Amino acid sequence: MRELNWKGSGFMRIVALVGQKGGVGKTTTTMNLAAVMAKHSRVLVVDVDPQQSTTWWAGRAGEDLPFDFAADVDPGHLLRLRQLDYDTIIIDTPGNLEDTSVLTAVLDVADFVILPLNPEPLNIAPMLRTVTQHVAPRGIAHRVLLSKIDRRRAGQLEDWERLVDEQLKLPRFSQCIRLYAAHADAPLEGRVVTQYPDTRANSNAIYDYTHVAMELMSIWANETSRVEAN
Ligand SMILES: Nc1ncnc2c1ncn2[C@@H]1O[C@H](COP(=O)(O)OP(=O)(O)OP(=O)(O)O)[C@@H](O)[C@H]1O
Ligand SMILES: [Mg+2]
Repeated sequence: MRELNWKGSGFMRIVALVGQKGGVGKTTTTMNLAAVMAKHSRVLVVDVDPQQSTTWWAGRAGEDLPFDFAADVDPGHLLRLRQLDYDTIIIDTPGNLEDTSVLTAVLDVADFVILPLNPEPLNIAPMLRTVTQHVAPRGIAHRVLLSKIDRRRAGQLEDWERLVDEQLKLPRFSQCIRLYAAHADAPLEGRVVTQYPDTRANSNAIYDYTHVAMELMSIWANETSRVEAN
């Protein structure tokens, strides 16, 4: 792990992966989004999950990790992240947020919240609760990320896109994250998506995260031009 550089940057964005339902893909998205963003910018991943899945994964990757990593961060110290010299900081949060003090600390510092949603009906209510009780009232920009989408199931993606757009009426990434066996094996192998073997399925996996990263960049570019215009 490289030394943290405490310089501070005006254009930093802090992104939190949030979801009060376990296993939706917060850790997988954190690691893989960080990997694609690290190709062109300085990225730090922060683990505030006491389960430390991200930390365990990063430990398996060792020196091969293409971004910086801060393990076991006390949520009370998150405000200090602003002083660091990174373009993007991605925070992985616990699945069980019964203790909302962690969520509160993360949302106090986050500029953007990604809400992964799997195509499972029981995942809808916890995600909606997170948005309506915690994210929307604070006015933090957020988008649902449809994840673990099985493209072999005809119509699944389209049905869930419609549900998010028309019934839940929540903002959503155009790009979804498809279901790939390679993602399930990645933590043990200590790999992130940009390090997967060069196969067709893996290039699709890289495509998914790259396009989510591009959507984020485009949202931020629009925000910056709005600020500059005022
Ligand atoms: N797109 C995907 N394709 C296949 N498997 C996936 C995908 N995304 C996540 N998984 C697998 O699903 C499981 C849960 O994912 P992950 O650990 O990222 O979720 P999480 O939201 O961080 O869970 P927790 O709430 O427990 O922290 C893991 O076994 C992971 O490898
Ligand atoms: Mg996790």
